[in-house]
Amino acid sequence: MTEITQLAIESWAGPCSALAQTTAIDALEKGDVLLLPKLDFALHDDERALYFQNTGVEVKGKNISLNLADNSVRGSHANAAELGVLRDMMVRFATDSRALVHALLPGYVSTIEQGRTSFRPVEVAGRASSWRKDDTRLHVDSFPSSPTRGKRILRLFTNVNPHGQGRNWRLGERFEDVARRYLGSLPEPLWGSSQVLAMLGITKGRRSNYDHFMLQLHDRMKADSAYQASGGQREFAFAPGCTWLVYTDQVPHAAMSGRFLFEQTFYLPVAGMHDPATSPLRVLERLMGRELA
Ligand code: SIN
Ligand code: FE
Repeated sequence: MTEITQLAIESWAGPCSALAQTTAIDALEKGDVLLLPKLDFALHDDERALYFQNTGVEVKGKNISLNLADNSVRGSHANAAELGVLRDMMVRFATDSRALVHALLPGYVSTIEQGRTSFRPVEVAGRASSWRKDDTRLHVDSFPSSPTRGKRILRLFTNVNPHGQGRNWRLGERFEDVARRYLGSLPEPLWGSSQVLAMLGITKGRRSNYDHFMLQLHDRMKADSAYQASGGQREFAFAPGCTWLVYTDQVPHAAMSGRFLFEQTFYLPVAGMHDPATSPLRVLERLMGRELA
């Protein structure tokens, strides 16, 4: 079962003790959620006024995202002035997130890449979606258009809900247990399909066998109502004002309710890990007896 490891860190920029650093990396790599209950993201008054006192009508879909490559913001109907406030707020969250990784996970700094930043003001509960996109079903993260070829997906979240509402998750069993449950029944990729998907621009780059099996696992978990109802799991409410980190490609998770969340994605090559054997890539390779990426 997924465990929660807590650290009493209060500052994004650190410093963090050597003990905190070791605890953090060990917990994350073995598939725990790393909870920092005292690490909040402070909002400015203009940000509060804009994004917390209305109903989130300015959001197009479920998330607003920031691409750090050009600081472009997507997914919002905000006007130019509002967009400026939104962008500054998200860039600050991205900067704080990076500072925390440097302070708490220094062993990752030389290989980690910072991905997109998102702000999630929309209530999760009751949101309509297809079963495949339904994040209220337990799953491990794997995205059809973005193959990672084994790279880890590390995500950092901060609940900034101003009304005392938690971000309510379910957390599942350990990755290897979930993998063993489905592995024997996952179909092989169709010959040549990864080239075709990349050529048509459906995937960004080639989908490796690893990506294929992770996507299958993601889909099979979400589609399996018996597993959703009675597979090993626990509920956990992430209170407002807390931050947590988790390898979402490894830890089965489902977001059941909550709104007003920040999220920052990082990618880490397996070789950059302290213990690569714990990665989904190496676990699947061991279980299947062959290389997958
Ligand atoms: C997810 O990664 O499945 C959703 C997490 C969240 O928005 O709380
Ligand atoms: Fe997810």
